[in-house]
Amino acid sequence: MTSVDARDIAEDLEDVLFTSDQIAERIAQVAAQIDQDYEGREILLVGVLNGAVMVMSDLQRAMRSHVQMDWMAVSSYGAGTQSSGVVRILKDLSQDLKGRHVIVVEDIIDTGLTLSYLMNYLASRGPASLEIMTMFRKPEAARIEVPVKYVGFDIPNSFVVGYGLDYADRYRNLRDVATLKPSIYS
Ligand code: PRP
Repeated sequence: MTSVDARDIAEDLEDVLFTSDQIAERIAQVAAQIDQDYEGREILLVGVLNGAVMVMSDLQRAMRSHVQMDWMAVSSYGAGTQSSGVVRILKDLSQDLKGRHVIVVEDIIDTGLTLSYLMNYLASRGPASLEIMTMFRKPEAARIEVPVKYVGFDIPNSFVVGYGLDYADRYRNLRDVATLKPSIYS
């Protein structure tokens, strides 16, 4: 396979936290849980660009339920490694949420500021239910409480890349998830 795994860019990385196999295994577990919880209901997955593309794609293919998808784009970080707290909607939903069972899909929850804003915004559009699935979460970085129903992995408060997570828009295509060497971003 000609994709990037941690060995290919080892000089940029500190530790591999999760291999692509571990990620796939966890996605399968979460997908099965969602299928069970939403039995008989159709689900609208709302992905938050850009980071969530990998998890959106893999989660859907691991699910047996009928799912639709839609996307939002918001700005929070810019090119740095810290949350600014500023959330701006760059691309809004294409679909009506009224009466839908919505799961927001994220790659990572860091401070929680982005999702806190988005959940209020989406709740005001009248979905039948509204939950969150995030692949990664940094509990130590939380600045606001966000009710998350499905979490792939809780991770330490260090800068991680891969599986959709970027630094300055790079490393998203790394199949594993790893911490970046400080020399890369300092
Ligand atoms: C990341 C991630 C979340 C947000 C989480 O997006 O995808 O949307 O940051 O951070 P928070 O909990 O501190 O608000 P980012 O702005 O880096 O954009 P990207 O998805 O395009 O990488």
